[in-house]
Amino acid sequence: RFVPIILAGGRGERFWPLSRRDRPKQFLRILPGGQSLLEATAERLLPLAGGWDGLWVVTSEDLREGIHEHLPHLPTANLLVEPEGRDTAPAVAWAALEVARRWGEDAVLAFFPADHWIGDVAAFHRTLQAGVRLATRRDGIVTLGVEPTHPATGYGYIERGEPVGSYQGFAAYRVARFTEKPDPETARAYLETGRYAWNSGIFIFRAGVILQEFRAHAPEILEPLERLGQDAYPTLPRKSVDYAVMEHTRAAYVIPARFGWDDLGDWTALERLLQGEHPGTRLARHIGLDTEGAFVYATREDELIVTIGLENVVIVRDGKITLVVRKDQVQKIKKVLKSIKDDP
Ligand code: GDD
Ligand code: MG
Repeated sequence: RFVPIILAGGRGERFWPLSRRDRPKQFLRILPGGQSLLEATAERLLPLAGGWDGLWVVTSEDLREGIHEHLPHLPTANLLVEPEGRDTAPAVAWAALEVARRWGEDAVLAFFPADHWIGDVAAFHRTLQAGVRLATRRDGIVTLGVEPTHPATGYGYIERGEPVGSYQGFAAYRVARFTEKPDPETARAYLETGRYAWNSGIFIFRAGVILQEFRAHAPEILEPLERLGQDAYPTLPRKSVDYAVMEHTRAAYVIPARFGWDDLGDWTALERLLQGEHPGTRLARHIGLDTEGAFVYATREDELIVTIGLENVVIVRDGKITLVVRKDQVQKIKKVLKSIKDDP
């Protein structure tokens, strides 16, 4: 049995001011054609899921209604609702417990973030099928590794180890090491070795395998969930599965992913998408004198933004809020939000 699960409980803070508490990134209709990231994710997975009955979503209580609005065909029973968001480790552990309870420990599950852009959907499907095969044959966590293009600091990095053969035409390797969101120097050093891939954020494994990994590396998350069920949530540590499990596991594999991938994680990613295949939707009127490499985005088309003598900045206007940030610092938006009290 194969159970694809969309992780859709995050806030997407780095898309502020467009993303807000009640309007997280996965609900934003920023894709060309006006699709939300969540709709696009579900649509891409439906053929693998064998229709809506086979697709699952895990999210937090405050986003429950929004999920139903964006995915009206998703059966109510297929929405796993967490009392509150505690990052991805609790979400993965709890969903894995639910899958194991319903279909046993040999059921293969896969987690998909709701904030990805995928270029070649047919290749994406083939790669996943190979990943499912690998997860069935070996006791381990299967990751899909993306060829890195720059020393990004917002991703996990996977060091390729020994080759372990080919699965449905896809080469597979052991993961020698996993490092979540390294600093810029480390990321640059990784790139130079040529042995590293970006973690796509998609994970495939059997339910029993991931539960075993949690038991070994993150018992403080798994055990309360086993004992108390959802009542455990308020006391669970906020941790992503990358830090809780991936950085510690010795049983991970990677399949190189060549389907065209981007994490629409921050403003520079949206710029890449809009200026690549689908130029210029909803860009503000922008007059830039001596301005180089500015990405200007406004929610209203009649707004005029003038810049003089600027380089590599992102400017976003949404109603009463304006964000101006240097492109190499967009990751820091999270820090500012901590200090803005009334709902950012
Ligand atoms: N259910 C639930 N509950 N989902 C959550 C929660 C939560 O508490 N927190 C986050 N999510 C969802 C988000 O909505 C998103 O779809 C997915 O989990 C991943 O979370 P992000 O916050 O976007 O993670 P990231 O982009 O910083 O890092 C991850 O993805 C990268 C690639 O996209 C890591 O896995 C990195 O290693 C990876 O490179
Ligand atoms: Mg992300």
